[in-house]
Amino acid sequence: MIKVQDIVYCVFRAPDLDKMATFLTDFGMVENGRSGDRLFMRGAGAYPYINVIEKGEAGFVAVGMLAGSAAELDEAAKLPGSSPVETIDAPGGGKRVRLKAPDNYRIDLVHGMEPAPELKVRDPLAINFGWKKQRVVDLQRPAFEPARIVRLGHCVLKFSDGDAAAKWLRETLGMLPTDRLHAPDNKAATLGTFMRCDRGQKPADHHTIFALQAMPGDINVHHTSYEVQDPDAVHIGNQWLHSKGYVAEWGVGRHLLGSQVFDYWRSPYGHIFEHYADGDLLISDIKPGDYPATQENLAQWGPELSPTFFDSVRA
Ligand SMILES: [Fe+2]
Repeated sequence: MIKVQDIVYCVFRAPDLDKMATFLTDFGMVENGRSGDRLFMRGAGAYPYINVIEKGEAGFVAVGMLAGSAAELDEAAKLPGSSPVETIDAPGGGKRVRLKAPDNYRIDLVHGMEPAPELKVRDPLAINFGWKKQRVVDLQRPAFEPARIVRLGHCVLKFSDGDAAAKWLRETLGMLPTDRLHAPDNKAATLGTFMRCDRGQKPADHHTIFALQAMPGDINVHHTSYEVQDPDAVHIGNQWLHSKGYVAEWGVGRHLLGSQVFDYWRSPYGHIFEHYADGDLLISDIKPGDYPATQENLAQWGPELSPTFFDSVRA
């Protein structure tokens, strides 16, 4: 049985790779080479890339998920619509199977990528709490810099049938439902399901894929989300992106479901990229929750939800 263990990369298309490289660098990624018409961007973690940008009309192409074992790739290759096991022509190599997910999303199951040496990110800031002081003659001076991305944390995809998509993620990728959001006035109407990786007793992020119910005809990525060192990095990153003139979407705030300190920005081609820090970690035997999708259940604190937050692309 396939049990994905992590999210590895997202693939986008954009007409101008230099423009995306500049945005993603300001967002906190590091360029890790180009090959033909593809740009590879990495975080500080050990994956050789977390974003691939292919040259072409702006759009979303695929999500790469880490398989639990090489044998899972053989199993995946037998599923309807799957590619055979392929060698990945990209930094770190490895093997993949391209899976056909609901609404024709491409989800790559990957295994055996060569890890890249981790990059230096500043240490988490030591905080002097009200009742717990841990910093004496040690001045707080975080640099004004992009919010250095440590890793890709999750993606949110809009599906024509959100319930069917959550079922597919459970049955095909072995993911677990963490929390379900329903319409505030109708408990039967699912608005989305947060799905996490089944890592047994090893900690897993509250969600790795969120299956969001699409409005008719709006099948697209909603956002991709990247973990940074700490909440100060989220705030400094917010100021950095403002200083460069990018389009802010929503933040800084703290979510309720997942608890992340979040901040959402638009790429030059209108896709939402999220910074986050301090997200919840769970283990496999936690029962799913069920919440109405109210403003209080989206954020514990922060600005009002942006009116364009659910727009797939914003010019
Ligand atoms: Fe998110």
